[in-house]
Amino acid sequence: MPPQLKTLIPLFILFILAFLIARHFLVPDSFGKEGHYRFESVEDNKEMPMFYAGNEACAECHDKAAEMEYDMHADLTCETCHGPGMAHYENPDNKLIMPRDRSFCGLCHASNNTRKYKLAQVDLEEHNPGMKCVECHNPHLPWEIAE
Ligand code: HEC
Ligand code: HEC
Ligand code: HEC
Ligand code: HEC
Repeated sequence: MPPQLKTLIPLFILFILAFLIARHFLVPDSFGKEGHYRFESVEDNKEMPMFYAGNEACAECHDKAAEMEYDMHADLTCETCHGPGMAHYENPDNKLIMPRDRSFCGLCHASNNTRKYKLAQVDLEEHNPGMKCVECHNPHLPWEIAE
């Protein structure tokens, strides 16, 4: 046996022991209960605040908007445009975003040849400049154009 091993073997044993002891203290108790994760993190996540309420929540009070839902702007959810609605759902005094700016509609509709999904596009500089899109297009039923 080479003489170096006399020091290396105890050193390895020491490392392994140190690792096992550290592991014992560092790995959380519920780790591995249901899989390769800390099981209690599920409970932690359930307690996180919710920001989005979902279309069904909006329909509880906004009947008209809810009826439209099937024709709704290409199945966008209300909160795509009005922003996270949980606070408003819990108390309607909390105002939501009313996205009336041209630039907002442009996020999806400004002409851009590199867009992968070719939805209807307009050139923001040429398509009725100076007016808000919602003066002519109903944002909920956008294919209805006001006279
Ligand atoms: C508990 C009933 C209730 C629920 C649920 C509710 N709303 Fe409302 N909402 C109201 C009331 C009442 C108003 C009018 C408040 C006002 O004019 O101050 C309103 C106003 C609005 C407005 C207009 C705000 C403005 O500045 O004119 C929008 C947009 C809106 N709600 C969207 C939503 C969306 C999106 C959801 C779902 C996330 C939702 N609401 C859920 C009761 C509700
Ligand atoms: C494509 C974006 C978009 C989507 C999706 C959308 N909204 Fe709106 N919403 C708007 C805009 C923009 C206005 C302001 C319209 C105006 O000023 O003429 C508005 C206005 C409103 C208003 C106040 C005026 C009114 O029509 O009564 C309510 C309430 C409302 N939205 C609720 C909803 C609900 C509920 C949903 C989902 C079922 C929804 N919206 C989906 C963009 C959107
Ligand atoms: C999150 C992306 C998104 C936003 C924001 C958005 N739209 Fe749309 N819009 C769509 C999709 C998807 C369609 C489905 C039709 C398509 O594929 O062109 C559509 C359809 C339309 C159409 C009908 C086009 C046609 O084919 O006749 C009009 C008009 C329109 N939107 C106007 C608006 C206006 C005005 C706003 C701002 C209030 C707006 N959109 C905001 C995604 C969006
Ligand atoms: C003065 C009224 C008016 C205003 C303001 C207006 N539009 Fe239009 N829009 C129309 C009319 C009318 C059409 C149908 C004829 C055409 O294509 O020009 C149309 C068509 C569209 C289409 C369908 C284009 C296609 O190729 O199918 C989209 C998308 C659209 N508009 C989005 C917008 C957006 C986004 C804004 C704001 C930046 C806006 N519009 C402002 C009147 C308007």
